Amino acid sequence: MNSSTQNYIASPIRYDKMQYRRCGKSGILLPLLSLGLWHNFGKSDDFEKAKSIVKTAFDNGITHFDLANNYGPPYGAAEETFGRILKSDFKSYRDELIISSKAGWDMWEGPYGNFGSRKYLIASCDQSLKRMGLDYVDIFYHHRPDPDTPLEETMGALDQIVRSGKALYVGISQYNAKDTAKASKILKDLGTPCLIHQPRYNMFDRWVEDGLLSTLNSEGIGAIAFSPLEQGILTDKYLDGMPADSRAVKDGRYLKANTITPKILDKVKNLNSIANNRGQSLAQMAVAWILRNPEITTVLVGVSKEDQLKDNIKALDNLSFTSDELNEIELVLN
Ligand SMILES: NC(=O)c1ccc[n+]([C@@H]2O[C@H](COP(=O)([O-])OP(=O)(O)OC[C@H]3O[C@@H](n4cnc5c(N)ncnc54)[C@H](OP(=O)(O)O)[C@@H]3O)[C@@H](O)[C@H]2O)c1
Repeated sequence: MNSSTQNYIASPIRYDKMQYRRCGKSGILLPLLSLGLWHNFGKSDDFEKAKSIVKTAFDNGITHFDLANNYGPPYGAAEETFGRILKSDFKSYRDELIISSKAGWDMWEGPYGNFGSRKYLIASCDQSLKRMGLDYVDIFYHHRPDPDTPLEETMGALDQIVRSGKALYVGISQYNAKDTAKASKILKDLGTPCLIHQPRYNMFDRWVEDGLLSTLNSEGIGAIAFSPLEQGILTDKYLDGMPADSRAVKDGRYLKANTITPKILDKVKNLNSIANNRGQSLAQMAVAWILRNPEITTVLVGVSKEDQLKDNIKALDNLSFTSDELNEIELVLN
């Protein structure tokens, strides 16, 4: 399809409001909010809804879309959905987008479709490109540490992927501080510095504060925080019961309803009132709280509805915290 037959024209004011941060010591700027396609872009999800979420994101200056080989369900489906959206509506905008994919978790049967071998990463990247109809991804990640494959092999595979033109930059996800420093050294020596680390980080999961963020800072690597809303728990959605269309009720693969305990909800209620006193929704405060760290380049949200995305984007209206607000939050979290 040629771009002249593309129906979608992006908002002319898409870059007016979004703010961008430099990703580590690289040439890349990322929007403060990025969109992840882990959920809600599978085969049985509504395609038109998925498409309007992507358009709403881009119309608001969200240039970064995060995928992985196994996002769906079934595995591969989110990349196929995103590929269809790119083909029908985003052809002329490819150079305005940062698209990422990953390999590292289980993808196909047998010994070569999981973890961190060169064999797996290179084949998986090829498959992802086919599913999305792309010549290259902007960022290709190793999705999780592999305790058994030598780091030199995994990092060598990332370097090879860049050298063969299939990715522009590389990243790692969920590596601890020590392994991040080792991976970074190998990648620097190979001439393909690590652009970005993708750790899980939110008010209820703060492991990155214990060494990873300072390592990223000293290595010049950016950071994109995933599951910033603890899969939806850090919003007001579960405060009055379990909505039928929520992830905990309708999906339950990764967010189990029974993990949302009265104790957790009590914390959420207290956080919600701190947010309301700041004139924010809890989702907005949860995003702003992550962005208080200068090491964090961008916050990677997921959404099941356009309105959620619009709500989250409004976090940008109030990113600063008084020390009293930060103390109040600490009291709730500890
Ligand atoms: N590297 C890794 O290993 C890894 C692992 C997991 C995720 N990720 C990446 O991180 C991305 C985000 O992860 P996530 O989906 O867990 O993120 P999240 O932002 O913590 O949770 C997203 C869910 O929160 C709810 N939500 C979002 N905004 C809301 C709002 N304003 N009000 C009420 N509810 C709201 C929606 O749930 P409902 O469906 O209930 O409406 C949405 O699906 C993924 O798409 C993926 O790209 C990476």
